[in-house]
Amino acid sequence: MERSTQFGSSQQLTRRQLIRRTLAIGVALSSATSLLAACGGGTQPTPTPAPQAAQTPATAAGEDKLEIFSWWTNPGEADGLAALFEIFEKRKPGVEIINATVAGGAGTNAKAVLVTRMQGGNPPDSFQVHAGQELIGTWVVAGKMEPINDLFEQEGWSKVMPKTLLDQISYKGEFFSVPVNIHRSNMLWYNKKVFADNGLEPPKTLDDFFAVAEKLKAAGVTPLSVGGKDKFEVPHLFEDLLLAVFGPADYTKLFSEPSLWESDPRVDEAIEVLDRFLSFANEDRSALSWADAAQRVIDGTAAMTIMGDWAYGYFINKGAKAGEVFGWAPSPGTDGMFMWLSDSFGLPKGAPHRNNAIEWLKVCGSREGQDAFNPKKGSIPARTDPDRSVYDEYLLYSIDRFAQDALAPSVVHGAAANEAYMTEYGNALNVFSASRDKKQVKSMLIEATRELKR
Ligand code: GAL
Repeated sequence: MERSTQFGSSQQLTRRQLIRRTLAIGVALSSATSLLAACGGGTQPTPTPAPQAAQTPATAAGEDKLEIFSWWTNPGEADGLAALFEIFEKRKPGVEIINATVAGGAGTNAKAVLVTRMQGGNPPDSFQVHAGQELIGTWVVAGKMEPINDLFEQEGWSKVMPKTLLDQISYKGEFFSVPVNIHRSNMLWYNKKVFADNGLEPPKTLDDFFAVAEKLKAAGVTPLSVGGKDKFEVPHLFEDLLLAVFGPADYTKLFSEPSLWESDPRVDEAIEVLDRFLSFANEDRSALSWADAAQRVIDGTAAMTIMGDWAYGYFINKGAKAGEVFGWAPSPGTDGMFMWLSDSFGLPKGAPHRNNAIEWLKVCGSREGQDAFNPKKGSIPARTDPDRSVYDEYLLYSIDRFAQDALAPSVVHGAAANEAYMTEYGNALNVFSASRDKKQVKSMLIEATRELKR
C-alpha cells in the first residue's frame, strides 16, 4: 500500500526562518478564531444538520484516497500512526493514504498550516486536534466541523469513553471528534544509571528536585534537559510546576477565574520555581526539540526531563529499555495528580474523501485501533475497555493512575483554555526562558488572561 507525505516531515529551517515562522504562527493562532469567523464561521454558528454517517455507503466512486493531517513525525508517535494506517488499509484495501505531517512538537507548525488550509477551503479528510478548547473554541464554534453523533451512536463510543473526555469533545449536545488516546503531561523521565551512580532517587517534591539537581550539578551532569525549539517545551514545564504549586483544583481555577493570576501569590511562587528549574537546565534549549531533549536523557548526557508521555513512546521505539535505561515518576510535587490531554480526529466540513474519513474515524474509535496505536504512542486508550495484555508496565500504571488520580486539564495541549490564550501564555513563557525577567513574565501572563475573558 502506497503512502505519500504531502508536506515532508523534516524541513530544514535556519534559525532566522524558525523565529520568523514562530512569530507568524503566534499571530496566526492567536487570531485563528477571528480569521475563521471572517471567512464565514462566526462565533455564533447556525446549527448544522447532523450527517447521516451511519447511512453513508462505505465506498463511493472516486474515493481512492484518504488524507490524514498530523504532527506525528517522531519515533513513537509516527509508529502509532502507522499502526492505525495498517488497520485502515486492511479495512479499505486500495485506498491510498496521504500522510500529511507537519513536524514540530505540540503542533506549533502544523496548526498554522491547518488554519491556512481550512481558510482556503482545502481541508484534509481528517486532522489531529486536541480534545477541549482547541477543538471546540477554534473549529467547532467557527462552524468548520461536522457533528458526528450518528457515528457515536452506531459505534457505541459514548458508553466506553469517560465522561470527562466526552464533555471535551461536545458542544451544544453534539460530538465533534473521536479521541484516540489520553496522554499525561506531568511526567519526569530520568536516566537510571546516572541516578544509581550518584546514589539518587527520583525527586518526589519540588524540594527533592532541588536537592537532587544540586548533587547532579556538582557531579558535572546537566540535571534537567529542556527543549525550546517548538515553543511549547518551557510552557509545558510551567504547567506542570503550576500544578505542583496550586494542586489540581486551584490550578484548574486559574482558567475559569483569570483574576487569580493577579491576586494569588502562588503565581509568583510558581514563577520563582520555574526560574530555579531553568537554572539547572541546558542553556541551548532554543535549539532542541522535546525529542532532542529526551534523547540526552537516554544518552546519559542529562539526568532528567519533564515531558508528556509521548517521551515514553519515543524511548521505547528508540530501543531504550524501560526500567533499565530510563525510569519515570510524576513530575516533582504532582504525585496523585494527572494532567491530561487527548489527541482526537474530527470530520471537517468539505472533507474531499468523506466516506474514507468516516472509516478512518471508526478505526480511531475502535478497540482494535486504540490497542494498536497506544502501546506505540506511549499513551493510554481513550476507551475504558482495552485489552490490558497489550499494554506494558508504564502504560498499565498510567491507566490505573488516570482512573484514581485527581485530574487536571493541560493548557499547552488544548484541554484547559482556548487557542488564543494558549498562544499568549506560551509567548510569555518563551520570552521568560531567554530573559528570566520575573516581573515581565508575570505581567505578560496577566495580560494573556484577556483571552480567557472573551
Ligand atoms: C502533543 C500531542 C502528542 C504529541 C506531542 C509532541 O501536543 O498531544 O500526541 O504529539 O504533542 O508533539
